[in-house]
Amino acid sequence: MDLTLPDEALTSTLEALAADVARSAGRLVVDERPDAVEVSATKSSATDVVTVMDQRSQDHLVARLREARPDDAVLGEESGGATGTSGITWVIDPIDGTVNYLYGIPAYAVSVAAVVGDPTTAGAWRPFAGAVYNPVTDELYRARSGGGAHVVVGDDQRRLVPTTCSELGQALVGTGFGYAAQRRESQGRLVLDLLPQVRDIRRIGSAALDLCSVGAGLLDAYYETGLNPWDLAAGWLVAVEAGAVVGGFDGPGEALTWACARGLAPAFPDLVEAGTRTHLGY
Ligand code: IPD
Repeated sequence: MDLTLPDEALTSTLEALAADVARSAGRLVVDERPDAVEVSATKSSATDVVTVMDQRSQDHLVARLREARPDDAVLGEESGGATGTSGITWVIDPIDGTVNYLYGIPAYAVSVAAVVGDPTTAGAWRPFAGAVYNPVTDELYRARSGGGAHVVVGDDQRRLVPTTCSELGQALVGTGFGYAAQRRESQGRLVLDLLPQVRDIRRIGSAALDLCSVGAGLLDAYYETGLNPWDLAAGWLVAVEAGAVVGGFDGPGEALTWACARGLAPAFPDLVEAGTRTHLGY
């Protein structure tokens, strides 16, 4: 499998493009958020919702990316992706944290990443340029391979640094739960095992922001089963470029995605990998 990355000049151009389109879709999502956000459809379960703005944000992202990069493919959470010939795929989540968006909780984001390889197969792809934008807080996380990870707020740009945490018992751990009842039950059992071994658990509601938070030192670690490529692509790159460690069974993916400060490896990955095997059957 050839996962050769584009050269520095193209990587840098695509990081800027990811940041630009994530920001413009984010502004659309928050500026045109209706007073009462309505659910337009449900997906895997009655609580896995799509709002009209998910689709509008995706349409906006696809149009902007196709205009700038007509030969690249686009893989998005909502309907209307595109095939390409360049070997680069844009993996996009038009609103990550849709339930927070529905309730007006200020933790949702637009996630945009350029990747090489096959983003539908864990271990067969990697992101090399990306951005995650929270339009409520105006925080833009951005990264490119070899270029470090930064958060931009207004005119301020700060390089991201994970925490120095090295003891599991001191670790603040983010996680998330799927939408299907049976999976949630298994995930609850795993949390029950972890709770006495770590400082505490956070369920923020956006995997993209969780991964960026590990990069930014707002969480010591994060793990989740059931993520789709669009939930994790840009956040994975941001966390790694910040200096955190990110993995899963065959690389980050549906079975398991984990991220942690360097000092927590290998204890944290070992713990969540064992727990995921026991409780989720992987
Ligand atoms: C969800 C969020 C959530 C995570 C779920 C994801 P969505 O994405 O990232 O934090 O726990 O697994 O599906 O549905 O809001 O785009």
